[in-house]
Amino acid sequence: MGEYHISGGKCLSGQLKVYGAKNAVLPMLAATVLSKNISVIHNCPEISDTFMAVKILESVGAKVTIENDSLIISTATIDNCEVPDKYVREMRSSIIFLGSMLARCGKVKISYPGGCPLGTRPIDLHIKGMRALGATVIEEPEFIFAEAKKLIGTRIDLDFPSVGATENIMLAAVLAEGQTIISNAAKEPEIVDLQNFLLTMGAKVSGAGSDVIVIDGVVIDDLHDGEHFVMPDRIVAGTYLCAAAITGGELLLTNIIPEHLHPITSKLAETNCEIQMEGSKVYLRAPKRLKSIERIRTHPHPGFPTDMQPQLMALLSTAWGVSIIEETLFESRNKHVPELNRMGADITLLSNGMTSVINGPSNLRGANVECMDLRGGAALIIAGLGAKGMTIVKNSMFVERGYVRIEEDLRKIGADIWCVG
Ligand code: EPZ
Repeated sequence: MGEYHISGGKCLSGQLKVYGAKNAVLPMLAATVLSKNISVIHNCPEISDTFMAVKILESVGAKVTIENDSLIISTATIDNCEVPDKYVREMRSSIIFLGSMLARCGKVKISYPGGCPLGTRPIDLHIKGMRALGATVIEEPEFIFAEAKKLIGTRIDLDFPSVGATENIMLAAVLAEGQTIISNAAKEPEIVDLQNFLLTMGAKVSGAGSDVIVIDGVVIDDLHDGEHFVMPDRIVAGTYLCAAAITGGELLLTNIIPEHLHPITSKLAETNCEIQMEGSKVYLRAPKRLKSIERIRTHPHPGFPTDMQPQLMALLSTAWGVSIIEETLFESRNKHVPELNRMGADITLLSNGMTSVINGPSNLRGANVECMDLRGGAALIIAGLGAKGMTIVKNSMFVERGYVRIEEDLRKIGADIWCVG
């Protein structure tokens, strides 16, 4: 069990390049199952979730070669329609293989992903989508079994713009007969990137990024080799910006896409950070005194992303004034609050733990803390960078799921942080 050792109080300054997005590459890896050809995906982040998805592909018969940050995936030999439950247990998001495996094999058995540190994480919208496309879905306590002789395109009105459900329906619909229209679709940039990858494979998809996505089904032999360069990770970029801001420093990030970052940089500007964006670069300079933000609500894109909520909370704990953050997506995404308070933050949880009142400024002090999920861990690292003294953040494996050696990147801009064990 690794841990991060952080000697805080250093003012960060420098330049970092942002790598490929975890939440874009995972659905793309699931999408490769749809064809019998070769897919080449560049700019893949070297994180444990990527390697877990590769293991799932290999377990169903695909062949994967890794060349630096490119994955070459041959799916001609897919011969198994069961996703091993050990992988689903370790990576909840492996449910994203449901739609593509069903479309490719006509049946799929995948263990029920169940809850995770963020809460119950239901998949009712995924299952409703598969049934709407004509699949029979049997829900057992431990696993889901879906079967369809043929998937038939249809209109699906999502009750909620779920990212995963949108992706699963898109993937299943690629090989369905006829047209599928997804209304109230998720509009995250990762969905647009998935569409762009699918188009290189010969799939017929349009509308991603809006709340109506249209997929015209094709037959598997219409699909061909695909190749794509994964979009940069907007949450990694936002995490690094918060790290520089809490130390009163400055940071230049390259390889970003401005419109992906606006929901995040607009909040940092409200704290009085100076933000400049030009082309594929963003520059942040922290103010002498960070200002609180009266009220923030997490919301599907283009709202403020829930995946940036813990990191912004750590930053706001040192801002002058009272900030209120309402988490609206995940009922258990505030496990980092007690740990931040152990470091001297003054945060109160209201209304069944979904609303946080952050009373600042607090002078954070180093402490031994424990991370219990990916973005909560990033928040504790940010707090450690801004704290006086030594912080130890336990359970580094959570952070390693979504960040490529975060300690190395932070050291490049002046942080005193090491990953031990
Ligand atoms: C994706 O998760 C991301 N994961 C999450 O990032 C991200 O927080 C989330 O989208 C929201 O942006 C990946 O892309 C791998 P949802 P997903 O389905 O697809 C409810 C990270 O830190 N819901 O959009 O699971 C659900 O309870 C991770 O990188 C249903 O009710 O998110 C939640 O309240 C964490 N029924 C809301 O929708 C369903 O069938 C958002 O979930 C599905 C979802």
